[in-house]
Amino acid sequence: MRKPLKIAGFEIFKDCLTPAVQAEMVADLRAVAQAAPMRHPVTRWGKQMSVKMTSAGRVGWISDRRGYRYEAQHPDGMSWPDIPQKILDLWQNITNLDREPDCCLINYYGEGARMGLHQDNDEEDFTFPVLSVSLGDDGLFRMGGIERGGKTQSVWLSSGDVVVMGGDARLAYHGVDRIRFGSSSLLPDGGRINITLRVVQD
Ligand code: SIN
Ligand code: FE2
Repeated sequence: MRKPLKIAGFEIFKDCLTPAVQAEMVADLRAVAQAAPMRHPVTRWGKQMSVKMTSAGRVGWISDRRGYRYEAQHPDGMSWPDIPQKILDLWQNITNLDREPDCCLINYYGEGARMGLHQDNDEEDFTFPVLSVSLGDDGLFRMGGIERGGKTQSVWLSSGDVVVMGGDARLAYHGVDRIRFGSSSLLPDGGRINITLRVVQD
């Protein structure tokens, strides 16, 4: 593993995954989405998010009128599929942790989708890092500090890039301002997939 770029405590591993591994991951994620369909969640205030989401793992992250939380079942009632083995292997390789993640959140950004600045703070344990993998179109990733409204820096994430949000960056604000729709040919219909692996409770 090459040395990561470090920006505001975020560790960015460019070009971490070969095109073949990226394609295998996409196939695995398609199978997850077949078993646990993607949907556009709504926020507590009833606003529909522009990204579509589903999860794999022991628990999945959901948002609805009751707020943000982890649940053991998809809103349609099924259990979340297992986290694909290649994704668990990547977690192991990068983090060197024995502990497996509880949740693999899968976000799909279609044309025009974005994600506002937020903290990942619905977990009970912040000692473990969050690991993010980008697949498909480029996304402009914005990184800030642990206070809302602070200075931010941005980097374009491309297919196969991996980001570790750990240590000081574990609770740092981050978001995706826009994607370059059609910039990658990995997904036949375009768009960007981002997965984040999280330990939810210890
Ligand atoms: C997220 O914060 O959940 C997604 C980040 C990304 O899409 O790169
Ligand atoms: Fe996040």
